[in-house]
Amino acid sequence: MKTILALLLAICVLDSYGKGVIHEKEQKAQNLSIRSGELWLDDSGHHINAHGGGVMKYGDTYYWFGEHKSEYTSDALVGVMCYSSKDLVNWHNCGVALSVTEELGHDIERGCILERPKAIYNPVTKKFCMWFHLELKGRGYSAARYGVAVADRPEGPYKFLYSQRADAATWPLDFGDEERKLADTLNTAHYKDWSSAWIKAVGQGLFVKRDFGTGQMSRDMTLYVDDDGHAYHIFSSEENLTLHIAELTADYLHHSGRYVRVAPAGHNEAPAIFKHKGVYWMITSGCTGWDPNEARMFSSSSIWGPWKQHPNPCRGPKAEITFGGQSTFVLPVGDRYIFMADIWRPQHPIDARYIWLPIDFEDGKPVINWRDGWDITKLR
Ligand code: GAL
Repeated sequence: MKTILALLLAICVLDSYGKGVIHEKEQKAQNLSIRSGELWLDDSGHHINAHGGGVMKYGDTYYWFGEHKSEYTSDALVGVMCYSSKDLVNWHNCGVALSVTEELGHDIERGCILERPKAIYNPVTKKFCMWFHLELKGRGYSAARYGVAVADRPEGPYKFLYSQRADAATWPLDFGDEERKLADTLNTAHYKDWSSAWIKAVGQGLFVKRDFGTGQMSRDMTLYVDDDGHAYHIFSSEENLTLHIAELTADYLHHSGRYVRVAPAGHNEAPAIFKHKGVYWMITSGCTGWDPNEARMFSSSSIWGPWKQHPNPCRGPKAEITFGGQSTFVLPVGDRYIFMADIWRPQHPIDARYIWLPIDFEDGKPVINWRDGWDITKLR
């Protein structure tokens, strides 16, 4: 009997470990502090499955939305997950906030690529609005669309509305008559990729012109709601070479048509933005797929720019590769900010880990110091 019980226990332990459940000692450590890179358990004892995500605060509750990742593929087999917490340490699994569908040919058909979801609350319509990067099933990363979904409750269920490319037939705000005329003459066939003439032409709007009719590419993204209630969609466009900041309509469900370009030909992905003492700060990564690279940082006194580049804000071990992660969001908590990043595990996507670190300031500039563990309650 004893042997059978021991055997059963061993099977249970092995089985639960396989599903991402960690042992007691690790769980205790997690309850005391935020330990980047370790397994983070939800209230059911499973590693939180919300990658490339962001956090929305509504009332006294934080809602963490992110990509559900499976064991062996990064394709979306489930959709967007939502977790809720009042203290940012203990997370309740609210389930699937936006589900992929079985319908063949649907924009969010199971097996599409659905990345970097972010949700914001619209106080006018009283709806929760979710935007994400969408790639149509079976087409790699060529669709380069954003998707929009809406819900009546913070945790969902979110109803898919539409997906498309950005700002078709619209020039950026920072293009006057001269710039538009010049961009209109540009043709990708005339340039060799990465030649100095090509880089110059990218800056002048080579890809804005190429995609003018069909709409601008829209990949890695975040959302930002400013103090005045205006919201913005910030995304990698133009073959991931140039970031776009596009204003949303008052209902947060469409682009208003006003947008600017940031760091043309700078190759930035994974934008995360916050505002501190009237200055907008944006942290991004370079473009090396799932592999980590050195974080970049920009600032501007207006959301519309001009944006100025600063050195890498990370300090400590592996600071030159963002501690092994890639930025996804900056969460304001009181008068502090938490930098959120993902440590991807492309061979075993469900096992990807999270980096959360407080942002310090040195000489008025954000600095992200590595900490093995830190107490989030001391932030406030
Ligand atoms: C990264 C991007 C991720 C994902 C990945 C795919 O650069 O930030 O969200 O798209 O590439 O390789």
